[in-house]
Amino acid sequence: MRVELDPNIVVGEGPLVYRPAEDSLLLLASIPLGPGERFLEVGTGTGLVALHAARHGRAVATDANREAVRLARANARRNGLPLDVVLTHIMAGLRGPFDVVAFNPPYLEGPPEDNLDRAWAGGHQGSDVSLRFLADLDRVLAPQGRAYLLLSRANETARQDAEARFRMRIVATKRLFFEELGVLELTRRGP
Ligand SMILES: C[S@@+](CC[C@H](N)C(=O)[O-])C[C@H]1O[C@@H](n2cnc3c(N)ncnc32)[C@H](O)[C@@H]1O
Repeated sequence: MRVELDPNIVVGEGPLVYRPAEDSLLLLASIPLGPGERFLEVGTGTGLVALHAARHGRAVATDANREAVRLARANARRNGLPLDVVLTHIMAGLRGPFDVVAFNPPYLEGPPEDNLDRAWAGGHQGSDVSLRFLADLDRVLAPQGRAYLLLSRANETARQDAEARFRMRIVATKRLFFEELGVLELTRRGP
């Protein structure tokens, strides 16, 4: 079953938190989620994606931005959805295992200077945060688990790293006026 945009879910926004955009919606629509599957979203921002997953069962989300954590928790309460939001770097401190992990990372080139910058500034080639996520993913992913990572065409280093570590499939793409986005589905390689 795909996670679909639900007009009944009301997602409040805040000045210091990434405002959901086309990348958020592309990721959301790319995630198949079965009943009872354990879900984690890294870098949840307002919580939009994780709240939709939480309609299907208890979900966990993280963000390194304190304001995003506060807002996502408030959005979960507002919608009466079972979402645990953790303030942490990527998924440090979480044990898993999770059946489905999703991340819309900061994917543009540049160093972050404040919390809001962290929403888009992904360091060298926009790949640094995604590389750290990929290095830790194996630890929290269930044996048959799937991860959905959104990247832009510029994130070649992260894409190559994803392909080296996991079986990789591109499940969605979207061309915007200044970039092309893709959602990678990552699963463990067979024996
Ligand atoms: C592009 S925004 C996506 C927000 C939301 N998931 C969405 O799709 O609308 C990236 C998010 O990742 C968070 N983030 C950036 N670096 C992070 C890190 N090292 N650990 C956890 N979250 C991080 C940002 O604060 C921001 O909320």
